[in-house]
Amino acid sequence: MIVTTTELFKHAYGKYAIGAYNINNLEQIVGLFRGNLGKSAKNEDPSDASKSAPFIIQISKGARSYTDKRFLEGLIRSAEQVFPEAIFAVHLDHGNEEACYDCIDSGFYSSVMIDASAEEFEKNIEITRRVVDRAHDKGIVVEAELGQLGGVEEDIVASVKLTDPSTAAEFIDRSGCDSLAVAIGTSHGAFKFSGKQGLHFDVLAEIQKAIPANFPLVMHGSSSVPQEWVQRINNAGGQLAGASGVNEAEYLPAAKLGVCKINIDTDGRLVWCAIHREEFLANPQNFDLRPPGKKFMAAYADYIIHKNTVLGSAGQLESVREFLK
Ligand code: G3H
Ligand code: 13P
Ligand code: ZN
Repeated sequence: MIVTTTELFKHAYGKYAIGAYNINNLEQIVGLFRGNLGKSAKNEDPSDASKSAPFIIQISKGARSYTDKRFLEGLIRSAEQVFPEAIFAVHLDHGNEEACYDCIDSGFYSSVMIDASAEEFEKNIEITRRVVDRAHDKGIVVEAELGQLGGVEEDIVASVKLTDPSTAAEFIDRSGCDSLAVAIGTSHGAFKFSGKQGLHFDVLAEIQKAIPANFPLVMHGSSSVPQEWVQRINNAGGQLAGASGVNEAEYLPAAKLGVCKINIDTDGRLVWCAIHREEFLANPQNFDLRPPGKKFMAAYADYIIHKNTVLGSAGQLESVREFLK
């Protein structure tokens, strides 16, 4: 069942965070649905309620143009039929105005992100407001961003600008956005922190204090870049020395301060990369795509179960189903 992110946030607020996972292809979609239903290896495996979670499936502009955006819609619609128990939102990740309007008009997305965070404050509000008005007319909710993360987004290398807590309430009020992505120290990609830095909880706490009660916040660039997967990639010929991510022990403290959505893309790519490197290194005679594909779907499902456990969303699916009735 496709729901809005706002419906999911109402249940999660202050208690746990919903995983927002980027997808690009069939194998990621299958692994994602299986993992969120607590099925480790096969579609037919029974769902484990203690591991089942609501989730957000997010699609970037790059994912939409990787093949044809309609393929992703078709795959997700099929997943909805194969896994009818799933409860999830379909969200456009880092949209510009054009992509937002396309998704709003498609009748498929339940949520869009307008990312005008590179613009000045007034311009960000103006653009976000236009998208909010068009989205709300159709019952679609909008995530906006204030402040700038570091790292690479699409093909743009952004410089870090932490969210200024003193402007957050005005931004929310005037833009009309339904959730707000904040820059509190994370960055996109596999090279996030050097040394022992972590999230700026002081900034997050100030933002939460300044904005309306229970207003949902979003954390981008939140992959944990597990060292186990980095090592497996490097052992199989990869070159990701020095890769590092967010400490998973910081997810729940962030959720307690109002972060309801935690964005994960890089970790899924690392799992994909490790499985495929290992498979072809160990079986140089293999040229069949299905053996690594099967291993990836199973490993990704297990990874999603792990991620939802540290986000606190694992085991919440049936409670969300009741809450939505
Ligand atoms: O925040 C960006 C996401 O990781 C999406 O990446 O634009 O390469 O699909 P992408
Ligand atoms: P990561 O690169 O940390 O996975 O962040 C993904 C993200 O923020 C997608 O919008
Ligand atoms: Zn992002």
